[in-house]
Amino acid sequence: MADSKIETKKKMLMSMSSLGLVYSGKGGKEQNTTALEQVDLTIYEGDFICVLGPSGCGKSTLLNIMAGLMEATSGTIEMDGEPVKGVDAKRAVVFQTPTLYPWMDVYSNIAFGPKVRKVENEVIEQRIDKYLKLIGLEEFAHVKPYELSGGMRQRVALARAIVNDPKMILLDEPFGALDAFTRNSMQDLIRKIWKKDRTTIFLITHDVDEALTLGTRIITMSARPGRVLKEFDVDFTLRMNDSQEDARYSPEYIELRKEILKLIGLGQEK
Ligand SMILES: Nc1ncnc2c1ncn2[C@@H]1O[C@H](COP(=O)(O)OP(=O)(O)OP(=O)(O)O)[C@@H](O)[C@H]1O
Ligand SMILES: [Mg+2]
Repeated sequence: MADSKIETKKKMLMSMSSLGLVYSGKGGKEQNTTALEQVDLTIYEGDFICVLGPSGCGKSTLLNIMAGLMEATSGTIEMDGEPVKGVDAKRAVVFQTPTLYPWMDVYSNIAFGPKVRKVENEVIEQRIDKYLKLIGLEEFAHVKPYELSGGMRQRVALARAIVNDPKMILLDEPFGALDAFTRNSMQDLIRKIWKKDRTTIFLITHDVDEALTLGTRIITMSARPGRVLKEFDVDFTLRMNDSQEDARYSPEYIELRKEILKLIGLGQEK
């Protein structure tokens, strides 16, 4: 499928070079843990990156460094040509367990970021209306998080992330705790969000099919110390319509799925 947006020259958004992270053991009793080693990765605007790798290989560590929640112990990381230092509204983060304020209703949870940034009330209202519609929770604006299902809470967490108009959305296994049906509809939602705005997305998953049906780039990581094993450029997500069956059963998809599973499996044996 021809897609002019994809074919135009891509602009670099973030670059990591020889990135490493060693967790230091306390008081000399515990050993140091090298979580990441020599990670080189360049992210371009509009990329939908999905990261796959064995458990404990450093995926969350990498995401936390990218978010500015943690500092690398070696190497460099830059966004828009500036070193990544601390958290920034340019980078939104969504974790597996939605971190909503329990005492605030859905509307106030989503409005929190823009309010802190002193965005005009009128603009906030317009944006929230738009995003509530997008996540299908218009009727739930004044409901508290405890009254929502897990999937609904994760939708609110997503809206809260994108309402600040970030340049990059970082998601750490955001659908991992959801049942298969809800996960499917969340995948459709995130694809819809990405197709609409082409905001750069970096998503960690354990699910090869999730990676293949959402991403434009799949990064596989080795067992700890994590490094980039191999990268795959894919376009199945562009071919997915309402019915997810479209691209999934093509011979190309099945072959790639096999190759990736083998790669990650090999990584795990090390
Ligand atoms: N605070 C910490 N102190 C010491 N070691 C840590 C710390 N946090 C993580 N680790 C170790 O670093 C390695 C990478 O952890 P990380 O959570 O990044 O892996 P992951 O790929 O996200 O795993 P999973 O797929 O299970 O979520 C693991 O071996 C973990 O035990
Ligand atoms: Mg993790």
